[in-house]
Amino acid sequence: MDFEHVLVVGAGQMGGGIAQVVAASGRRVSLHDPYPGAVERGLAGIRESLERLGADVDGTLARITVVDDLVAADLLIEAIVEDGAAKEDIFRRADAALPPDAILASNTSSIPITSLAAVIGRPDRVIGMHFFNPAPVLQLVEVIRGLDTSDETAAAIVALARDLGKTPAEANDFPGFVSNRILMPFINEAAYALLEGVAEAEAIDTIARLGFAHPMGPLALADLIGLDTCVAIMDVLHAGLGDQKYAPCPLLRQHVQAGRLGRKSGRGFYTYA
Ligand SMILES: NC(=O)c1ccc[n+]([C@@H]2O[C@H](COP(=O)([O-])OP(=O)(O)OC[C@H]3O[C@@H](n4cnc5c(N)ncnc54)[C@H](O)[C@@H]3O)[C@@H](O)[C@H]2O)c1
Repeated sequence: MDFEHVLVVGAGQMGGGIAQVVAASGRRVSLHDPYPGAVERGLAGIRESLERLGADVDGTLARITVVDDLVAADLLIEAIVEDGAAKEDIFRRADAALPPDAILASNTSSIPITSLAAVIGRPDRVIGMHFFNPAPVLQLVEVIRGLDTSDETAAAIVALARDLGKTPAEANDFPGFVSNRILMPFINEAAYALLEGVAEAEAIDTIARLGFAHPMGPLALADLIGLDTCVAIMDVLHAGLGDQKYAPCPLLRQHVQAGRLGRKSGRGFYTYA
């Protein structure tokens, strides 16, 4: 399958990045986000990223059309807020709007693919297509099969990921899949180290950067991901795996309660201009 026309729902940091990657591959993208200002911010972010990468700004943007509702396409990539009920609603509406042979993919970090597949009539054509942040830069796409995902659907999405210049890695549908099952407890533990006064935020991040050769420390990474998204993922890990070790650190939750969501709100563990 060529996926000539892709519908991206959600124009936040991930949806914008995914729309950019797909449009840069020469495909047509329809981008939908009903929240005021979201699409404008998304498009501005895409422009900035294309300029930074020295890519074809006008040509790529010309392939992205803003749509005010879900439209027929060969593939849905859903990238809305990390909320199971909201994602199920998009999947139900996409099932009605997209042709029966279209594939419905979610960029979710942790919501079970099987539960998204269960609310619609084509569970064999539902899959996780998990890009990493920033999507135009990072190589990995974690491809997650739900219980009923067909081999044909998985093969088509693996091939698409390669065609987008990415490296796919396949995982099964367990809480947090592989990436966030490993990453989120690491971030959570860093938040506990801060909460317990083991070290200042800068020292915790320096230790991870220089000691483990990570490109950024866990607290700076949490700010990049969004602390609301981190808490939502920890909640899924905690509920799905049932072990207290996955409960979100109270400091993470408190930051979210204060509206300190990380870079996207200007303040998280660090303050941003
Ligand atoms: N932030 C990351 O590092 C990262 C990495 C990989 C995957 N993800 C996943 O990608 C998804 C989006 O995350 P993000 O960081 O882009 O979040 P974000 O907060 O930057 O953007 C979310 C967007 O979804 C929109 N939205 C909310 N409800 C919607 C609806 N019902 N219909 C259409 N649009 C809606 C919002 O207006 C917003 O623009 C989440 O599932 C998240 O877990 C995030």
